[in-house]
Amino acid sequence: MALLFICEGEDPTEWETALRTEIPDLDFRVWPENVGNPDDIDIVLTWQPPRALLASFPNLKAILSLAAGIEHILRDPELPPGVPIARLIDPGLQTGMLEFVTMEVLRHHRRASEYQDQHRTGDWKLLRQTLSRDRRIGILGLGHLGAACGEMLTRFGFPVSGWARSQKDIPGIKSYAGEDGLFSLLEQTDILVCLLPLTPDTEDILDATTLGALPRGAALINAARGKHIVDDDLIEALDSGHLSGATLDVFRTEPLPGDHPFWSHPKITLYPHAAAWTLPESAAPVIADNIRRAYHGEELYGRIDVRRGY
Ligand code: NAP
Ligand code: GLV
Repeated sequence: MALLFICEGEDPTEWETALRTEIPDLDFRVWPENVGNPDDIDIVLTWQPPRALLASFPNLKAILSLAAGIEHILRDPELPPGVPIARLIDPGLQTGMLEFVTMEVLRHHRRASEYQDQHRTGDWKLLRQTLSRDRRIGILGLGHLGAACGEMLTRFGFPVSGWARSQKDIPGIKSYAGEDGLFSLLEQTDILVCLLPLTPDTEDILDATTLGALPRGAALINAARGKHIVDDDLIEALDSGHLSGATLDVFRTEPLPGDHPFWSHPKITLYPHAAAWTLPESAAPVIADNIRRAYHGEELYGRIDVRRGY
């Protein structure tokens, strides 16, 4: 029984140590230097596997993502059919996202960027404060991350609404679903947080039409994937004054090319895909649990529906 770690550019040492703490006799191998016989590989633990690589392991029992998102696996047109794939559901990742979204919602809510600008220009001026109960938060995606962020934000007194494929019953969060539901949510959102998975249905979802449906002065936080946003439409919405600002953690091309207009846009706060990391010390117990499940032929925790795309 062997696990193959496929994550170019990531040091596998910490992962090997953390997983061996959970499963001491784990046969931990690393692509490409230490694959051994491809027939031995039962489980792959991966971020952005090269195309067609996974199909070269004939006895694969499970594909485990090192990330919550799994589009980096599903983009492979030669995925081995029938092998279950699990996204990562990790308490550390959730905590990281809670911190990030809370931080950025509060920054927009308390006009932190404007105060920073005033600091630079030596301007002493109070900007009108808004009560949290008068700042409406809309969350796209009410899954493991979106629902937790929504619940956290209700504790500050923000009215929180969320949109998902299916109707939700989450205390304190107004739930919307379907296309009509999307526009109903957007029309009453002052700070929009995107925490959707990237699928054919959600790609380019934040375009001129949806951004235009937000009230004038709204702000956007995208901590999901860059391809959710039509970049030119976002710039237009910011330049026209329709949107007051945007926090972007994820981009169509990463690293974001040096000449991309997002870098220098005065209304954009930019992070290098840093919202929530997968840390071995938090994720290893969850991954080890899925390794055991795969070995015993049990359903994977966080198994995704390949047809649905998440
Ligand atoms: P999840 O638990 O799978 O939740 C996804 C949510 O999106 C669900 O509520 C789902 O609705 C909803 N959804 C999916 N397709 C939809 C559609 N077409 N229309 C409406 N709602 C739709 O995912 P998660 O663990 O919360 O993670 C969300 C995403 O965050 C990941 O896919 C990843 O891209 C991103 N992420 C980013 C970072 C970062 O550092 N920037 C870190 C971690 C994750 P249902 O509940 O009805 O199925
Ligand atoms: C990070 O982007 C993740 O999907 O976990």
